[in-house]
Amino acid sequence: MKTILTQSPETAAEFIRRGGIVAFPTETVYGLGADAFDAGAIERIFAAKDRPPDNPLIAHIGSLQQVHLLAGELSPNAKSLIEDFFPGPLTVVVRKVEAVPHLATAGLETVGIRMPANTLAREFLTACGRPVVAPSANLSGRPSPTTWRAVLEDLDGRIDCILQGDNTAIGLESTVVDCTRSTPLILRKGAVTLEQLRAVVPDISEFDGETDKTPRSPGMKHKHYSPRAKVLIVSPDEVPGSTKDDAFIGLHDAEGDFGYRLICAGVDAYAREVFEFFRESDRRGMRRIFCEAVSEAGIGAALMDRIRRAAEA
Ligand code: TXA
Ligand code: MG
Repeated sequence: MKTILTQSPETAAEFIRRGGIVAFPTETVYGLGADAFDAGAIERIFAAKDRPPDNPLIAHIGSLQQVHLLAGELSPNAKSLIEDFFPGPLTVVVRKVEAVPHLATAGLETVGIRMPANTLAREFLTACGRPVVAPSANLSGRPSPTTWRAVLEDLDGRIDCILQGDNTAIGLESTVVDCTRSTPLILRKGAVTLEQLRAVVPDISEFDGETDKTPRSPGMKHKHYSPRAKVLIVSPDEVPGSTKDDAFIGLHDAEGDFGYRLICAGVDAYAREVFEFFRESDRRGMRRIFCEAVSEAGIGAALMDRIRRAAEA
């Protein structure tokens, strides 16, 4: 299969309307989309990514009216979160309607819904005219793509089209909140923080993987975000000995003879750069990547979550 590159949201949407699969930018990471109601196209997403079939997809919408194509009556909490955070880097999990194929939700009776804020994503989704289910546009287990070139690197020849946009503004995947329970639960940390969510839903809680071993979000149990290089978490003043095969990313410069290093201007920049840094480290043949630990405030919590998962892999 030849993968077409385009900057036109209409051209990209035409592939979706014909049952194709298309990578597109959002403000978080690039997604790999298919018509949310086309089981055949959805099947192709799982095949292209080599994604385990028990990991559900997020349905992306271009307008608030489309929520009702995916979900029935919304709980007051779900309504408030949608009102306050759509469009943006938040996914709400709600009960699905019959029409959403079980293939998309990995057999669950719930569906994750998100309305991206990125302009090109909105133009693309509007041109599609229907909800688009999309996981991140990487091979399963690899770091999520934050550039269209990273999508090409993983999926060239496996998907129909890539909508070429800018590098993504946030660089980490959306915050996922389960709204099907009486007190909503954060399943995955992201750019919308616990503090911001608490301002709208005060009793919201965070899934605690330490005390609760059953993954609430099926995807969280899978291997994630891993470069081929070994990821190690360090504080900047205790970086162990380095060689030319070692890379370093952080906020402060670290002593050492690193083959590749990136000092970020702040936590937002660190979050935006980390997945591409992982990929570039692999391209350069680095054996180890040292990541500076940051304070878990704001997006720092999501950043540390991703770095820990990469380090566990
Ligand atoms: O920012 C994002 O969310 C990006 C962009 C493309 O929108 N998408 C993304 O999709 O990260 P993916 O498939 O890589 O991650 C989706 C996460 C997984 O952990 C999955 O298990 C969870 O959301 N999820 C999706 N639907 C769910 C549901 N019905 N119940 C619980 N968890 C769900
Ligand atoms: Mg993913």
